[in-house]
Amino acid sequence: MSLYLVTGGAGFIGSHLTQALLQRGEQVRVVDNFSTGKRDNVPAGVEVIEGDLADDGVAARAAAGCDYVLHEAAIPSVPRSVKDPLGTHRANVDGTMQMLVAARDAGVKRVVFAGSSSTYGNSAVLPKREDMRPAPITPYALQKHVGEQYCQLFTSLYGLETVTTRYFNVFGPRQAPDSPYSGVISLFIKAVLAGQAPLIHGDGRQTRDFTYVANVVDGVLRAATAEAVAGEIINVATGGRISLLELARSLQLIIGTDIAPTFGPAREGDVKDSQADIFKARKLLGYEPTVPFEEGLRHTVAWFKAG
Ligand code: UD1
Repeated sequence: MSLYLVTGGAGFIGSHLTQALLQRGEQVRVVDNFSTGKRDNVPAGVEVIEGDLADDGVAARAAAGCDYVLHEAAIPSVPRSVKDPLGTHRANVDGTMQMLVAARDAGVKRVVFAGSSSTYGNSAVLPKREDMRPAPITPYALQKHVGEQYCQLFTSLYGLETVTTRYFNVFGPRQAPDSPYSGVISLFIKAVLAGQAPLIHGDGRQTRDFTYVANVVDGVLRAATAEAVAGEIINVATGGRISLLELARSLQLIIGTDIAPTFGPAREGDVKDSQADIFKARKLLGYEPTVPFEEGLRHTVAWFKAG
């Protein structure tokens, strides 16, 4: 049994990781500032440290005695970073830096960092491969890129094992639709279940590699313990690409409604197309996405309906 620190463990992805670790018989500690995370997301019996990783001393307290760190804590929103570059920098860069220093000092075996597909920017080449040149076009994308670069530096300079798993538009149960900055799938489900039209920013032809959260959990847990991956950056996604128009249509079919979406102006800093090449994850992690998009969407709708 190992002790895992899940930062942002009360949030969407962090809480799924926590649950999966407990199911595997591992021990989990969560650190969260509850800015977007919720106490109800943390299973009973899990040790919780309430604090902001960007504040001095919090990361050190959280990392003490841990074998692995899964660093999920972040303000994960492109538009929010455009609006608030300073606040998101503090959470996404300062928090990560504090976490890396603390993990190094605590002798942690490995840190797995939640990277982002936004790092690829708007280059036309698809699918996105990890050896492509990063081209961030928003503060969020740059902050996540800085985080992964710091991870690699800590590996080469201090010998701290790190792996960055680059996520591609993760969705699933517990993704909160309670802010205009929430992930599009949670917002669309909330709207359609309330009998309202989903709002599409732009023409809806933009595409995303929407990834069901169980696939991400599998990829991250593999990244924590796989051999010979220190310093690597690895896409964790499905390898597909769905337009927002298709997403809206699939949701109407699953929910059994027929509400036409409404259209608004395209979002500032929005990437046109995003699709992962997952060859590297397959090769280095033995990863294979097991829950396809439609199935994940059905699970997610069912969860929203039950809530
Ligand atoms: C980006 C990253 C993703 C990261 C996420 C964190 C890319 C390609 N992806 O996702 O890796 O994890 O940030 O938040 O950069 N939209 C609507 N209506 C809405 C809300 C959104 O049409 O009500 C549109 C957006 O304009 C966008 C798409 O849906 O085109 C997805 O938006 P969102 O869910 O916010 O995620 P990204 O910004 O794509």
